[in-house]
Amino acid sequence: MRKSLVAGNWKMNKTVEQARLLISEMVPELKQVEGVEKGLCPPYTALLAVSALLAGTDIGLGAQNMFWEQAGAYTGEISPPMVAEFCQYVILGHSERRTYFGETDATVNKRVQAALAHNLIPIVCIGETLAENEAGQTAQVVSRQVGEGLKGIQPEQAGRLVIAYEPVWAIGTGRAATGDDANRVVGQVIRPALDGLFGSTIAQGARVLYGGSVTAANAAEFFSLPEIDGALVGGASLKAAEFIKITRAAAA
Ligand code: PGA
Repeated sequence: MRKSLVAGNWKMNKTVEQARLLISEMVPELKQVEGVEKGLCPPYTALLAVSALLAGTDIGLGAQNMFWEQAGAYTGEISPPMVAEFCQYVILGHSERRTYFGETDATVNKRVQAALAHNLIPIVCIGETLAENEAGQTAQVVSRQVGEGLKGIQPEQAGRLVIAYEPVWAIGTGRAATGDDANRVVGQVIRPALDGLFGSTIAQGARVLYGGSVTAANAAEFFSLPEIDGALVGGASLKAAEFIKITRAAAA
């Protein structure tokens, strides 16, 4: 049985003070939602404050990216040991990283390897662009992202991987994929690609989230589908009531 995960990706939002306020609105109710794994991914600058506020709760903390090197002359970067000091999760390969910061399947792969080596749970984001979708290339793109992004990972570590299927055209657009389409991509493309790399036990055991304009109104549809094991939530994770409702829907 795969335990659902709902993770909030705050992106580049919230100063420390704003983060404290959002946490104070969210956590009292969120920590009462049982049967679902919960994670919050604030910006780096708020990780320390948020980790203190989440202490003693069952809500995990994640970073939104991470470099793969241990330490050294990499101005502006954050290393795996730095992330692992505070976090259980790390989002990797988000489409915004790929689009604006030049990340590729190869650099995502290095990050995933580093995250696993530091006992973090990588939430590896994949998904096709609108042009790729319209050209009928979704399966090809997504299976390449899995194959290249997860290449060389040992099966004994692969059990910790979380995949987030996030069609790029659905992110922040208010235009979510349909549940059926997302379920089909996960069941017919992502799990078979995982099976090819790691075998069927890992492929069937790995959690695959949906992301892209998830709201309290559409979350239950995604969570009712057999291949989808939760959500990576962007915009709606910045609103306490909305994120609580989504998390409750996953627990239901
Ligand atoms: P969104 O973002 O929910 O605002 O569409 C999802 C994501 O980027 O992870």
